[in-house]
Amino acid sequence: MRIIGTGSSLPKKVVTNDMLSEFLDTSDEWIVPRTGIRSRHVISDEELEDLAADAAAKALAASGLKTSDIDYFICSNVVNEYLTPGLSCIIGYKLGLTCPCVDINCACPGFIYALDIVEARWKAGKLHNALIVCAEEPSRMTSWQDRSTCVLFGDGAGAVVLTDGDNIRGINLHAEPSPDKIWQKRILEPTPYITKEEVSVPLQMKGRDVFRFAVNASTTQVEALLSECGMTKDDVTYYMVHQANARIIDSIKQYLAEPEEKFPSNIADHGNSSSASCTILLDETNRKGLLKKGDILVFSAFGAGLLSAAAVLEW
Ligand code: UT7
Repeated sequence: MRIIGTGSSLPKKVVTNDMLSEFLDTSDEWIVPRTGIRSRHVISDEELEDLAADAAAKALAASGLKTSDIDYFICSNVVNEYLTPGLSCIIGYKLGLTCPCVDINCACPGFIYALDIVEARWKAGKLHNALIVCAEEPSRMTSWQDRSTCVLFGDGAGAVVLTDGDNIRGINLHAEPSPDKIWQKRILEPTPYITKEEVSVPLQMKGRDVFRFAVNASTTQVEALLSECGMTKDDVTYYMVHQANARIIDSIKQYLAEPEEKFPSNIADHGNSSSASCTILLDETNRKGLLKKGDILVFSAFGAGLLSAAAVLEW
């Protein structure tokens, strides 16, 4: 497949580190050196599905396709207000889609997992045009009393439209299932028969374990995938790395021994927007006019699961 349109949409409320320190025992001096984050967009009166539909409409407009041309839609999302129907159906209704609407919850690498599915279906001859939307509101998952998590995240949506083409050079997916590293639980409706104890717990994260996993998984996968694609680091124009933490991105950069200018970044004013992160970064880089036909983009993302993924794409 080939990406022919990108779009993104952000909540209007911008929360700076200084605003957080008004109600949390934290500071810009702590947050910036450890994460690279200065501010983040946070949902206030918006609905996530409206941001998602807006990002999708921008990607469709850029692609030149109509909603009726899309024959497969995947939404990547971790948490939203609806347990059912899937967020893809809610967004699909807003857009007027009539194709299959599919949801995946593959955490931060969700965009690459979605790419893998559309590419496999395309290779099987089952679609020509696909829409992927990554829509996330992690600000509603964390406790805003927990300074170790809530400062890290921001909300938003990103989208891509793909059509026939052979620009996806390779995809590498990886899992190390360990549900105690990043997790959140909510209580379901009670029944007369539930005897087990149930608790609702906001997002929990073993930050240092996740940091190690992220750097190790990303560098291993990127090197393996480039070699599988018959490429070297010299062929790479940009590394589109999941914007989780500037220190994670710096460690990956150092390990790969690649220069700063190959790593577009928006972590400073977005924070970690889970699976939306790579698609927002792609759209912003694209709209700045930085991408040229033939550029090689390496995507790398990692997160809850633990899951990670890498993809090599020719622009
Ligand atoms: O999509 C993947 C998502 N995951 C990530 O990106 C997370 C990866 N991990 C990290 O980025 C880092 O582990 C963090 C930035 C989350 C934390 O940095 P750290 O250097 O690993 O700090 P720590 O958790 O070990 O905490 C050190 C101290 C603690 O205080 P004490 O116990 O030493 O007194 C924390 O309570 O820093 C304290 N602390 C804070 N202080 C001020 C934790 N968060 C904050 C905060 N402001 N926001």
